[in-house]
Amino acid sequence: MKLILGIESSCDETGVALYHGERGLLAHALHTQVAMHSEYGGVVPELASRDHIRHVLPLIRAVAQEAGCQLQDVDAIAYTQGPGLSGALLVGASIACALAYALDVPAIGIHHLEGHLLSPLLSDPAPEFPFVALLVSGGHTQLMRVDGVGKYDLLGETLDDAAGEAFDKSAKLLGLDYPGGPELAKLATRGQPWRFKLPRPMLHSGDLDFSFSGLKTAVLTLTRLHELDGQSPDEQSMAEQTRADIAHAVQEAIVEVLVSKSLSALKQTGLKQLVVAGGVGANQRLRAQLDQTANKRGFRVFYPDLEFCTDNGAMIAFAGALRLQQQEAKRDYRFNVKPRWDLAEIIY
Ligand code: KG4
Ligand code: ZN
Repeated sequence: MKLILGIESSCDETGVALYHGERGLLAHALHTQVAMHSEYGGVVPELASRDHIRHVLPLIRAVAQEAGCQLQDVDAIAYTQGPGLSGALLVGASIACALAYALDVPAIGIHHLEGHLLSPLLSDPAPEFPFVALLVSGGHTQLMRVDGVGKYDLLGETLDDAAGEAFDKSAKLLGLDYPGGPELAKLATRGQPWRFKLPRPMLHSGDLDFSFSGLKTAVLTLTRLHELDGQSPDEQSMAEQTRADIAHAVQEAIVEVLVSKSLSALKQTGLKQLVVAGGVGANQRLRAQLDQTANKRGFRVFYPDLEFCTDNGAMIAFAGALRLQQQEAKRDYRFNVKPRWDLAEIIY
């Protein structure tokens, strides 16, 4: 069975992993650029590319050492070909293809969302095909029907902002650090549920599409209304409570829409398994609400382990391993990255 090296570099995380077809995940490592970008309040693409260059080879060496492998043992190299930041993708693609050429093994370009989509299969218990997948990341919000590796049908998606983007933009308006999703979730735990109710966009639209861009306008209006920059200690603590209350309302609005549309997707397809993937899948409130609904409605929900919810190399190595089971990989080392790439375009 095959040993696959996986390289993820689509955005602000350099992820590397070694996955073995029989022994499973042998080792993985991640370098996050969050601290570097937080100074700018968001990802600076050129800085991201340069940082990937600095970290990818040391991470590959570290992972090989941890797994007790030599690079010569590797049977194929999987890398994120898109979608993502073009410069960042180019770093992973060029290293993967150069290394694959040197080792005389195939290089396999993987769709980043396919990596997320298949990542719950790394956990135990794992879902079985077919299932509905809720993909909720910083750039995407999609519901897919998954019948097997490479068999993905889009059921619905966001018409504007992604759920992660709604978390991040609302967090920014509340003065929280980048990336705002986890920070907003933390603040929301101190919020008073009765205080604010934000709109649930497209909750009753009758389809499986989403829209989150109106949410940030609603948050902006609320923050202005409550002038969250009080100067006296009393005013400051009031402002702090109000920020927590708004954070709570934002999280509730996003979570309710995601849960309700996931339930509709299960009803529409008649399937009984839901897989949640992507960074927002780490959100505890979303998990709690989905688990509760699953218990009530008789379906099962599967999540990747928390460390594999956000970007990582393990999901890319794993997707590469599954791909190799499906088709023979060519030794073609010309590479092109796909910053914009529709998952539906993947043809096996
Ligand atoms: O999948 P991911 O790591 O990167 C992309 O491919 O986009 O997702 C990142 C997104 C960010 O928007 C981040 O704020 C959000 O996932 N996120 C969360 C949580 N952890 C990460 N959002 C809400 N609650 C969380 N706990
Ligand atoms: Zn991602």
